[in-house]
Amino acid sequence: MKLVFATNNSHKLEEVSKMIPKEIELLSLKDINCTTDIPETGTTLEENATIKSKFVSTRYHLDCFADDTGLEIDALNGAPGVYTARYGALDPSCEQEVPSHDNEANMGRVLRELATVPLEKRTARFRTVISLIIKGKEHQFEGVVEGRILMRKSGHEGFGYDPIFCPEGYSESFASLGDDIKNSISHRARAVAKLADYLKTLA
Ligand code: IMP
Repeated sequence: MKLVFATNNSHKLEEVSKMIPKEIELLSLKDINCTTDIPETGTTLEENATIKSKFVSTRYHLDCFADDTGLEIDALNGAPGVYTARYGALDPSCEQEVPSHDNEANMGRVLRELATVPLEKRTARFRTVISLIIKGKEHQFEGVVEGRILMRKSGHEGFGYDPIFCPEGYSESFASLGDDIKNSISHRARAVAKLADYLKTLA
C-alpha cells in the first residue's frame, strides 16, 4: 500500500517512517512531484491538517495523511496555537519583517510575553493533529505532550521551540533531552502511534 505523507520535512519523514507498518510505502510530496506550498488557512490545527490531506487526495487521487502542530500556552490563552510556526512574524511590536518558521523570533516573542510569569504558571502543551484520508474517508488522530515553558533557552538538539519546552516529568528542555527521549514521548510520536495502530487494522 502506498501512502503519501504531505510533508517535505525530511526530519519528520524519517521519524514517522520508523513507526508505521513496514508494508506501507511512505511517499513525500517531493516523491509525487507536488511542489505547491499548500496554504494553511484554517483557524484550528484540525482544519489545517484536513486542508493539506484533502489537497493531496483530491488532486493526486492517492491515500494520504498530513499533520499540523501547535504550542498552546495557558498564560497566553492558548497562543500561539494555530499560529505557532509564524508567531514571531505576526508580532505587532516587531518593526522588521520576520519570515515564518523563524525559531529565534518565535521563541523570543514567547519569552517576552511570559517575562513576568513564574515557572509554575507557565504550563503549556504541544498538540499534533493528523488527518488521514483513505479511499476518500477522513480519520483524525491527536497526540499531546504536557509541559512548561522554561525561563530561558537551553540545549542544542531538536528544532522549533524545543529549547524552551520542558515536558512534564523532566527538568530539562526537549533540546537538552535529545531526540531519543523526545521521540518516545512527543506529541507527534503519540499521534503517529495512533495512526500506526489504525493502519495495522487495515493490513
Ligand atoms: P508543523 O505543523 O509540524 O509544521 O509545526 C508548526 C510549528 O510548530 C513549527 O514551525 C515549529 O515551530 C513548531 N513545532 C512543531 N513540532 C515541534 C517540536 O517537536 N518541537 C518544537 N517545536 C515544534
